[in-house]
Amino acid sequence: MNITVKEQMYEGKAKQVFATSDPEIVMVHYKDDATAGDGEKKGTIHDKGIVNNRLSNALMQKLEEAGIPTHFVEEINDRDTFVKKVEIVPLEVIVRNVAAGHFTLRMGVPEGTEFKTPILEFSYKNDDLHDPFINHYYALALELATQEEIDTITKYAFAVNEELKKIMADVNIKLIDFKLEFGRLADGTIILADEISPDTCRFWDATTGEHLDKDLFRRGLGGEEAAYQEVMKRLLG
Ligand code: TMP
Ligand code: ASP
Repeated sequence: MNITVKEQMYEGKAKQVFATSDPEIVMVHYKDDATAGDGEKKGTIHDKGIVNNRLSNALMQKLEEAGIPTHFVEEINDRDTFVKKVEIVPLEVIVRNVAAGHFTLRMGVPEGTEFKTPILEFSYKNDDLHDPFINHYYALALELATQEEIDTITKYAFAVNEELKKIMADVNIKLIDFKLEFGRLADGTIILADEISPDTCRFWDATTGEHLDKDLFRRGLGGEEAAYQEVMKRLLG
């Protein structure tokens, strides 16, 4: 692809975004920086950027094949990817299959409890407010998204859950929960954006229950670098 990379537009906690010569495409660069608790805890996970870039791209391509539109365009190298330029919908869209994390704290349900049906949850994407839990009426009232967009996002989020559960089960990993972000193309079309990685999903080994995700870092348990490599090895060989 004959695209040149231009100035940095934005730097987030885990990624940088650069403009390109194509107004409809940006380049994402994945860093090794890791944060928890809305940036309160800071560290690095060696080669996390490589794992998350490669994994997210592979997973998004599989989701595209399953009919879910994503921002993925082209992987340039281990840490850099061209993606479609979107305006991010300021919602963290969380799907849960098994109780963990904030759900266990909020609901008093023990970690590991399987749900009868998957749970969809929205947070308002705002670090200063600690990404507060909201429902779709908040999103409508504050014009974070329209009803039509919320319907589309809901449909895609459950479809991602079904596909991702299968993809992970094939490599003996149980998909506990995950967070998605969606974006709007210039014409308003909603597509899946951001990333799908051990930063944004809870992955447990289906046999041992071993955690293979960022909870190792969040909880200071150690072993996160090896866990990220293990997920990449299982999915990409
Ligand atoms: P939670 O149980 O802490 O709400 O997390 C639910 C899922 O969302 C889990 O797979 C981790 C992911 N997540 C993020 O991607 N970013 C975040 O800032 C948080 C808090 C969770
Ligand atoms: N997004 C959180 C933070 O900003 C990290 C996490 O828990 O995933 O620190």
